[in-house]
Amino acid sequence: MKTPILETERLILRPLAVTDAEEIFANWTSDPEVTKFMTYTTHANVEVTKAWLADEEVQNSTDTLYDWAFIRKCDNKIIGSGGLSYKEEKGCFELGYNIMKDCWHQGYTTEAATGILKFATETLGETKFFARHEKRNPNSGKVMEKVGFHYIGDSESDSLDGSKHFENREYILEIPALYLKEANLEDAEQEYLFFAQLPADENGFTNPDCGASKEEYMKNVLPKMINYSKGIDLPENFVPETFFFLWKDGEIIGEFRIRHELTEALRTGSGHIGYGIKKEYRGKGYASKGLALTIEKAKEIIKEDEIYMSVNKDNPASLQVQIKNGAHIHHEDDKKYYTRLKIR
Ligand SMILES: CC(C)(COP(=O)(O)OP(=O)(O)OC[C@H]1O[C@@H](n2cnc3c(N)ncnc32)[C@H](O)[C@@H]1OP(=O)(O)O)[C@@H](O)C(=O)NCCC(=O)NCCS
Repeated sequence: MKTPILETERLILRPLAVTDAEEIFANWTSDPEVTKFMTYTTHANVEVTKAWLADEEVQNSTDTLYDWAFIRKCDNKIIGSGGLSYKEEKGCFELGYNIMKDCWHQGYTTEAATGILKFATETLGETKFFARHEKRNPNSGKVMEKVGFHYIGDSESDSLDGSKHFENREYILEIPALYLKEANLEDAEQEYLFFAQLPADENGFTNPDCGASKEEYMKNVLPKMINYSKGIDLPENFVPETFFFLWKDGEIIGEFRIRHELTEALRTGSGHIGYGIKKEYRGKGYASKGLALTIEKAKEIIKEDEIYMSVNKDNPASLQVQIKNGAHIHHEDDKKYYTRLKIR
């Protein structure tokens, strides 16, 4: 697909163009300090930068290269470039980048890389990425680790024209097929799609804002969820509650909520955790896997030694989900089982 325009907090990422040549040549392709560990050689004149950008314009319409100019929003300056090129031998895209020297150590590379990986996972559906850096360039490794890569081993390579020899550290980033992500403003569109199909109450998994329009969701419901997770604007007797969405291949398929501590009502009622899975994804093990991921989060969030949950007696699937994750029935009444799971 054609390389799209992306946006992060401080940057616009847009496809590189030949018309950028003068600025890019002045900012970094002519700077030996920036090009030292890159596979290309320092550009001797702007014509070399133009030739590279002309090729980029062609390649950027393919499915094997996505390369962006990083434009700083505050002054429209092109501060660097980077992107993804498909590596046949690795069976995945390689992430690469370079930033002009004046802009090093300000978090721009991490910010751009995060935006690029978000696009690649959510739009392209990619789940594995490769990256490498020269051993004498450890700052690049720090960026890789910050965005989730882990070190896998060493390699050696030469620059494109053979004039430089590199000793590399290689990294892999594997996005789990299924993962939890806290409710956030960036994913608002997807989060609304999930919200819109949630009924007001299904087996005690409630949606008090059911029926809210998209506009209301964006303006009130989602900010409220984010606030609740931080303990802001909580109704009386409410404790902080974090809302996690269960993502699979760029789509939200479930929701898991963790209440940070127990009140008397929670202790004798619904407990710490509530969850629901989108109808078309039920019966496929996703609630069980999602609860396993949620329990790991709960270990960091909740104050008590045991997770309390409850389940309606006519909801055997949900009881099974909890039992499979190590919970036991602590007691019951005529409507519900009350389960507990020791975490420390
Ligand atoms: C309950 C809910 C979360 C289950 O989600 P799910 O993704 O279908 O659950 P899973 O596929 O992970 O697991 C369901 C388990 O229940 C079992 N199960 C399903 N129906 C069952 C039944 N009638 N009797 C016993 N076990 C049953 C399944 O076999 C499976 O266990 P297994 O993996 O050991 O085979 C989902 O139906 C839902 O969102 N319901 C609406 C909201 C809700 O009820 N939330 C929970 C409130 S406590």
